[in-house]
Amino acid sequence: MKLNNKDLKLTLCGLTAIVLVAGFTSCGKKDVNSPGTEFMPDMYRSPSVEVYGTSTFNGDTVYSTKFMPVKGTIARGYIPYAYANTPEGYEQAGLYLKNPIAMSDAVMKDAEKLYGYYCTHCHGAAGGGDGKVGAKLPGAPPAYNGTLKNLPEGKIFHSITYGKGLMGNHASILTQEERWKLVHYVQKLQGPKETAAADSTKAKAKPAEVKK
Ligand code: HEC
Repeated sequence: MKLNNKDLKLTLCGLTAIVLVAGFTSCGKKDVNSPGTEFMPDMYRSPSVEVYGTSTFNGDTVYSTKFMPVKGTIARGYIPYAYANTPEGYEQAGLYLKNPIAMSDAVMKDAEKLYGYYCTHCHGAAGGGDGKVGAKLPGAPPAYNGTLKNLPEGKIFHSITYGKGLMGNHASILTQEERWKLVHYVQKLQGPKETAAADSTKAKAKPAEVKK
């Protein structure tokens, strides 16, 4: 028998259909939960390791990640912050906390950059409380050279560290050094103090109200 082109095409189509049907039906096992044959199952289901926990894999303990610091120790380079996030801590920081970083052109250059990244959108470039985000807050940030003119350096640092009112905590995104550099920058925006020891925020320590 001699196959012509048309017969050949039909036969090929038929064979393809059989292969496809066989292929699909071989996947459709009765047990819907069966994953079928798996090559390299570890690639589909890698052992998931719980941080600060112990994980088991095939009955074996594979990782123990209980690497919590020993009680009473502090990490190298980490300087604990002594003042609590309370009204008393705030007042104490205002009285006793002093900037350990000397002001210099290099410090101000770094501070200006940091201020642009983390503060301008709320406080405004000149610290007038008119940043694009700040203006949309239920209570815009007060101006550094207005209400906050005589805010002492310790309180500036304390508020950047813990946040205040609608301003969030910045301790997790800025190192202590960066926060102190920013204190210099905020002081530059405050302008000269009215009186050397005055603290304009002492009498009315009422935070801005949040209107819902
Ligand atoms: C989400 C907007 C927002 C961002 C971002 C923000 N602030 Fe504020 N900030 C505020 C608001 C609002 C207040 C007023 C808080 C209050 O008194 O209730 C404030 C208050 C302050 C005060 C006065 C705190 C006090 O003790 O009275 C300082 C200083 C300050 N911010 C510095 C900064 C610096 C520096 C940055 C950047 C690292 C920054 N803020 C980022 C919104 C913001």
